[in-house]
Amino acid sequence: MTDELTYQSYLELDTLLSLQNPRAAGSTAVKSTVLSEQFFIIAHQSSELWLRQIIDDVEAAVDAFTTTDDTSNAEWIVDLLQRAAELVNVLNAQLTALDRLPLCDFAMFRKALGTASGAQSEQFQRLAHLVGNAEHDGPLYESFAAWVARSGNTVSDVARRGIEAGIHYRIIEALLHLGNGYWRWQVGHIGLITKVLGNQSGTGGTSGADYLIGRCSLPFAELRALRSQAHLGLSVATS
Ligand code: HEM
Repeated sequence: MTDELTYQSYLELDTLLSLQNPRAAGSTAVKSTVLSEQFFIIAHQSSELWLRQIIDDVEAAVDAFTTTDDTSNAEWIVDLLQRAAELVNVLNAQLTALDRLPLCDFAMFRKALGTASGAQSEQFQRLAHLVGNAEHDGPLYESFAAWVARSGNTVSDVARRGIEAGIHYRIIEALLHLGNGYWRWQVGHIGLITKVLGNQSGTGGTSGADYLIGRCSLPFAELRALRSQAHLGLSVATS
């Protein structure tokens, strides 16, 4: 007889809940420090879980842009990008929660992190590559622009026509929504760091906040430049 599926077994909760192991637990640290380190671990682990979903959704969108020439998949692509944007907001909310990390507890367990650092997050690096930055477009934008071109349009024309351009324009809106959420997450991270680290350097060996400020930029530069077109030649007559 096979075991009946339960909430516990379906979600593999025994495994999941065995993965939070604060280093402070085996030391002389007080309960408050152990709980704060657990909070720190959970915030990072759950961020990595959401990053997994975001990357899968964005990669599915890139795949659809690359392998289809018509717009039959386009509604699904909008759904994928909007979900990814919503989940980037969830990442930002996790940082907001970390505002409640007591500074004295963090100072207590931080040494135990050694050189472990968010800079080593492979999933973040993958997402950063997919989304791109102000200087370089990533595969997400490149595959979108190529998909629009194969339909006989240009991104510039779609941006100019606005909602009249239909699904192509809705995808531009979804991309900008995702790009802005991604940027807000980076800015939120910098704000958190200045609060809990001040000008201390990072465990990864960087200068910390200053280093991250230099890396933070808004993706989809062309789309932003094209937004100005809407302001050309359009105005409400005033008396
Ligand atoms: C108290 C909380 C946090 C502190 C103090 C902190 C601190 C830092 C610092 C100083 C860096 C720069 C690299 C270094 O020298 O270590 C960094 C990078 C990074 N952190 Fe955090 N972080 C925190 C929370 C988070 C959370 C919750 C995530 C979610 C996954 C995260 C993800 C990252 C990523 C992805 C980078 C690399 C960013 C880039 O390369 O542009 N961090 N963090």
